[in-house]
Formats: sequence, C-alpha cells, structure tokens
Amino acid sequence: MRILIVGNGGREHALLWKLRRDAPAAEFWATRPNGGMEPLCRAVEIEPGDVGRLPEWAARRRIDLAVVGPEGPLAAGMADRMRARGVSVFGPSAAAARIESSKAFAKDLMAGAGVPTARYEVHAELEGARSFIEELGAPVVVKASGLAAGKGAIVCASTKEAVGAARGMLAGDFGEAGRRVVVEEFMEGEELSVFCLADGEDFVPLLPSQDHKRIGEGDRGPNTGGMGAYAPVGFAGEELIRRVGREIVAPVLRALAEGGSPFQGLLYAGLMITDAGPRVVEFNCRFGDPETQAVLPLLSSSLLEPMVAVAEGFGLGAVRPTFASGAAVATVLAAEGYPGSYRKGERIRIPALPSGTVVFHAGTALSPSGELTVSGGRVLAVAAVGDDFEQARALSRAGAGAIQFRGKRFRGDIGWREAERRRQSVP
Ligand code: AMP
Ligand code: GLY
Repeated sequence: MRILIVGNGGREHALLWKLRRDAPAAEFWATRPNGGMEPLCRAVEIEPGDVGRLPEWAARRRIDLAVVGPEGPLAAGMADRMRARGVSVFGPSAAAARIESSKAFAKDLMAGAGVPTARYEVHAELEGARSFIEELGAPVVVKASGLAAGKGAIVCASTKEAVGAARGMLAGDFGEAGRRVVVEEFMEGEELSVFCLADGEDFVPLLPSQDHKRIGEGDRGPNTGGMGAYAPVGFAGEELIRRVGREIVAPVLRALAEGGSPFQGLLYAGLMITDAGPRVVEFNCRFGDPETQAVLPLLSSSLLEPMVAVAEGFGLGAVRPTFASGAAVATVLAAEGYPGSYRKGERIRIPALPSGTVVFHAGTALSPSGELTVSGGRVLAVAAVGDDFEQARALSRAGAGAIQFRGKRFRGDIGWREAERRRQSVP
C-alpha cells in the first residue's frame, strides 16, 4: 500500500507515526517532510498546498490513500482534485471544508440546524460591526471570517477594544481573511476538542482533548496555534460526548449532506462547555494540532482502517475505535518570539527520553549532514503516555525541559485545569 501524507507539521508527524504502526509494510510519502518525518517516509518535493501538481503526482505514483492534514489545501480543493484523478483521499471536499474556511458559512449552517453556538453577526463594514458590538456589550469576541492559522479570534475586554479589532481586520490586518468579521457573544466555560471520524453520514468520536491556545502559562498572552494538549478530559464523560454527538455533530453532518456537501474526513468540534451545556466555538475540517499528538498515542485500534473506509466510500459501518487506559499530555516547544516573528536555524539537541515519550516534530529541518535545526514557530511536541494524567504530565514536562535549543519556550502548565480538578476531587 502506498500512503501519502499531505502536510509537514506536528499533526502530520503524529499521523505518519500512527499509520506506520497500523501498516508497517506500507510505503509512506509526505510533502516536504519535517526533520522528524523525513527518516520515516520518502519526500515529495511539492508544496502541501499545490492542488495542481500534487494530485497529478499522486495519480502517477498510484497512491492508494492520501491523508490531508492541514485546512489550507482542503479549502483549496485538494480532496476534490485527488478524487477527480482517482486517488482515494481522507479529507473533505472544499465545499464541506467551508465549515472551517468560512466562519460565516459555519455560523449560518449551525443556525439553520439549531446547533447551540454564540450569538453572532457577520459584517463587512465597521458601522454594522460597531453597533452589534455595542448591543452585545463586553466581553465580546471579534473574528476574521476566513482562515487565519488559529490566530484570527480576539477576545475583547471592552467594546472599545472590540471596535479597534474589527477596524484592524477590515483594514487588512489579516489580509483577505478579515474582509468580513464575525462579531460574537462571549461564552463562559471550559473548552473541549472533540474529533469525529465522519463518512458523510455516520461518525465516531475519538477521545476528547483540551488544547492550550495562549502563549503564556495560566492562559495569558496572545493566541497561538496551540501550545499543548492532553487527553482524555476528566469532565468529558461518555454522557457529555453522546450529547455532543446528538446536539452538535449529527445535525451539522446532516445539514452538510442535505446541502449537497457531505463531510468525509475528520470533523473537529471546538466546544465551550457552558452551564447550559456544550456550545460550538468553531468547527475545523481536519485533525487539531497539537491535540492529535495527545490523542493518537492513546488510540490502540487502527486509524488506517476507518480512514480507508471513509476514503473509499464504504462508510464507517461497525468501526469502534478503542483506546489505551491512562492519559497523554503533549507539550509544545516553540521558538523565541512565537507567535510573532522568530529566529530560524538554531540547532536542536534531543536526548534519549523515557519510554512512553514520543517527540513529534513540527518546525524542524534536517540538514544533509544530519543536523536538526529550528525552521518554524512551533518546533516540537513532547507527547507522553502515562498510567494516569499526573504521570503523563510529569513525563511530558521533563521531556520538554530536557530538549535543548536556543530560545526554547514551552508552557510547564499544560493540563493545569485537569490537575486542579483532580486535586479538588481528592478529599
Ligand atoms: P477560534 O479562532 O474561533 O478557534 O477562537 C480561538 C479561541 O478564542 C478559542 O479557542 C477560544 O479560546 C476563544 N474564543 C473564540 N470564540 C469565543 C467565544 N464566543 N467565547 C469565548 N471565547 C471564545
Ligand atoms: N488546536 C487548534 C487547532 O488545531 O485549530
């Protein structure tokens, strides 16, 4: 079997790592693989977003399964182009990917399907945005409608700040993505990421996880692509996940299918668990990063099987993923300056780490002489599986501390909410 991974971040390294365990005899390829992926696969020197050349290459090389990691290529029609060339692909069509690539589309879809989410309005002019900001009052959230690498949402403490954020976006701070802004009600609660494998009709959830979006410990500072994650999440029991399925995932998949764009791939529900129950913050059309680096090490059943079932169109059927007991924590190591501009080229040293620890690479490059260097803002994620949350957390944190590169930054408090909950539940 020949498998192509499209993308080269931490999530794609984790996907490659898991699929290789599922299919040790398969031949793996990846687009411009990072320094950790490179030894595990063959390199395709085509950009992950090249929707012209990559499908053509995949068809010529008789790729049996293409797995598309990032949202950009999906929004640009990578899955459609692959299918058009007869390549089986795990990942939604561009039309279905609008659930992520257009917040305005997602919001309208949710409204039509009766899915609980924050009150919102979409505006292309400042005056309209301003009057809705004033109607909602602070705190209030202003978002660029288009794709902005997880950095396009600003939670504003005052209406003045919100008007400023909307003005900036409409003036081009986020480029094309901010041509329209979504102004929405602030939701209070804890966030939860729920990944669902979806075949267009049916879906199965994976273990719930929690991301840490802010750069600083204690959830302070600007939003990033994600600084760490853990799974499972203590408060998200089976009953809550069933409710999320019933009230959120099922109606959205139905609405997409009825609208002529069934979702085949990984639907990621980003939720706020409020006093009134789960409400949607956002949907993503792909695996989350870094949640994937915490969820996949716990997945004991095959990921390849359901991916093939979805890609080939025979559906999930009786697929029921199983998970190891215990917990996983992934701590992201970032370059100094991230999420702003950062320095590349610093040399990285990774010592031997205890078993149960896997280092997933994101922004790393391997020189011809085998030297590993920093090439992106989020550099590595140290994922650790433990018998319980505390053990996983300690392993992950120790691993993050032991890896060396100049300017290394990481949050030592990944999973602090879970730790707090566990402390409170011990009498
Ligand atoms: P998004 O880009 O939509 O994922 O938002 C990024 C982050 O901003 C989320 O993970 C939340 O932490 C926060 N956020 C977004 N929308 C809301 C909201 N309506 N209420 C509270 N926090 C929000
Ligand atoms: N972890 C957030 C994201 O993947 O969008």
